[in-house]
Amino acid sequence: MMPPLRKKPGIMPDNSANSVKRMFLEVPRTYELVNHVLTLGLDIVWRRRAAKIAASTNTGKWADMCTGTGEMAVCLSRLAPEAAQIYGVDFSEPMLAEARKKPEADRIEFIAADIKTLPFSDDNFDLITMSFATRNINLSRDVLVESFSEFCRVLKPGGRFVNLETSQPSSRLIRKCFHTYVKLFVKAIGSRISGSNAAYAYLATTIPRFYPADELANILREAGFAKVTFQRYLFGAAAIHRAGKL
Ligand SMILES: C[S@@+](CC[C@H](N)C(=O)[O-])C[C@H]1O[C@@H](n2cnc3c(N)ncnc32)[C@H](O)[C@@H]1O
Repeated sequence: MMPPLRKKPGIMPDNSANSVKRMFLEVPRTYELVNHVLTLGLDIVWRRRAAKIAASTNTGKWADMCTGTGEMAVCLSRLAPEAAQIYGVDFSEPMLAEARKKPEADRIEFIAADIKTLPFSDDNFDLITMSFATRNINLSRDVLVESFSEFCRVLKPGGRFVNLETSQPSSRLIRKCFHTYVKLFVKAIGSRISGSNAAYAYLATTIPRFYPADELANILREAGFAKVTFQRYLFGAAAIHRAGKL
């Protein structure tokens, strides 16, 4: 197990819902391009990997939470059996507007909603996915537990949750290199391409502060999930978690 991360000095990022919504007003048009540039295209590979893991579940109702411009929902739609119903949920209308422009969008129902209070009844979905959004929901452990509990509520018993997020390399040296890369390039490149300082300052601040993979697994367990496992990618810079509802 890796040692606990040292607390980062500095002001905690403002991740209130209104501030996060404001951030995503400025970036939808360039959002995907910035991700591809900053990760050298690895975000595409990781989303496809997560979708493949997720789509190995049975058919039925699938939802991609915090879907943004819908890239993960589109990956799912390409793998989904004919009968599967696919939903993409996000509270940012401008991000959803980009998602709806995609050729695969007519296979997906996009819904504007806050994932903390989902407009769905209990035991509704067979599969929930989420990619690169856990940091945007909140960094607070309590808020994450509440949000994941909400996913657990709307999943059917036997349903699965697959989450892709940046993570923390276990090696101290690699972690330091990763954080240095984030510090030097994420805000500079993201702001230059998108014209938004706030969104990429937030990204650069929250990546080094986010939970290591084993800690995120504990948060999922605390939210009520069972059979929680994870796989690290790129020395731990990203991780895919799988969790089930009993
Ligand atoms: C970094 S983007 C990730 C988008 C997409 N999942 C991807 O793989 O690129 C985070 C998204 O989460 C959405 N979001 C953040 N908090 C949310 C909440 N409480 N309810 C619904 N959507 C939320 C934002 O509007 C934004 O579109």
